Amino acid sequence: MLKGKNVLLGVTGGIAAYKSVELASRLRKAGASVHVIMTRGAQNFVTPLTFREITGNPVTTTMWGEVTNHNVEHIALANLADLVIVAPATANFIVKCAMGMADDMLTTTLLATKAPIFFAPAMNSNMYDNQLTQRNLDVLIENGWNFIPPESGHLACGVEGVGRMPEPADIVDFVRFTMAFAADMLGIKVLVTAAGTHEPIDPVRYIGNRSSGKMGYAIAEAAKKRGAEVILVSGPSALTPPEGVEFISVESAEEMREAVLERFSEADLIIKAAAVADYHVRDVADQKIKKNEDEITLVLKKNPDILKELGEKKRGGQILVGFAAETQNLLENAKAKLEKKNLDMIVANDVSRKDAGFNTDTNVVKLLYKNGTMEELPIMTKHKLADELLTKILHMKN
Ligand code: CTP
Repeated sequence: MLKGKNVLLGVTGGIAAYKSVELASRLRKAGASVHVIMTRGAQNFVTPLTFREITGNPVTTTMWGEVTNHNVEHIALANLADLVIVAPATANFIVKCAMGMADDMLTTTLLATKAPIFFAPAMNSNMYDNQLTQRNLDVLIENGWNFIPPESGHLACGVEGVGRMPEPADIVDFVRFTMAFAADMLGIKVLVTAAGTHEPIDPVRYIGNRSSGKMGYAIAEAAKKRGAEVILVSGPSALTPPEGVEFISVESAEEMREAVLERFSEADLIIKAAAVADYHVRDVADQKIKKNEDEITLVLKKNPDILKELGEKKRGGQILVGFAAETQNLLENAKAKLEKKNLDMIVANDVSRKDAGFNTDTNVVKLLYKNGTMEELPIMTKHKLADELLTKILHMKN
């Protein structure tokens, strides 16, 4: 994933700058073209010549020197970069960026670039823990910068604590992992439903199911991270909606149906992970039901099948994915649902297993596709499965 990429490596004035030499070397070995910008402070620890030899490219050290390759060099480097890594990032550098300053080549380039930025803070642990530094870190993270957390250990100033720059190999892995998924869902609108529905009996009681919403929330979060625009329609759940998704809270199947139908036409991909109640109480009591009788009867009426309705309305180019929660005959039942509801894929879930289904952190599923093929996935966390599912769906689309 780094092969052929232009990586801008910013080096600021901390003792960990010596590790950046190895970082530059690893990036180059991974196939990247590495362009280093050093701050004045950094040059007290390592010489530009070292980086020039390691990267095979000129090293930028000032705004005011002779321009070598580029017309307006800071803009040229900002545009050239496919990604930026600042390692080490000192407290002083972090506050300057948090304020939007542009007083040297590195800060100026960073203000001008649209490439993803990674930064690895490294400093004394008291400086790191200081609320001022923490506030500045938050500003950069909120601004979309990818934070590479410092490690704990022995620091150059002689104390033990958090503030060490991670090893170069770990930084490369971090960047690789993040970039592998980054933005492969840009421009895609995803509608996800999650959690179970509550069907009211009276003002204080309802019929519900054991769905926690974990699978649907994980899918919404993963899609958002990969650049999609996400609408999450959720039944009652104890979970916090993922950052940045449009959240629509509903209670009953009927409310979920209304919300989903309203937004269905604008979505490219619809994933129905919700455990929708199949029945609702016909005559919901206006007042709390008193326990005057030894026996009471609730008459249940069938709910509309939302997914089936979507399958009938589906337009060309839209992808519809359903879940099948089964306790027996998993494959036959899932296949029947795939066909009946006109789906592109169904995620078949044996909810009788202890490590799968409702309210667990892991899941074991089989994927059935419209073209009749089937794929079995090993046990994995719902977060990992969310990413796997999205990758499979994207490949199915292409
Ligand atoms: N679903 C739906 N509306 C319903 C019931 C289910 O949209 N009223 C969706 C679920 O979100 C899921 C899929 O249909 O994606 C399958 O749900 P499941 O409960 O496994 O199957 P049902 O169709 O309800 O069939 P049954 O309960 O008889 O197994």
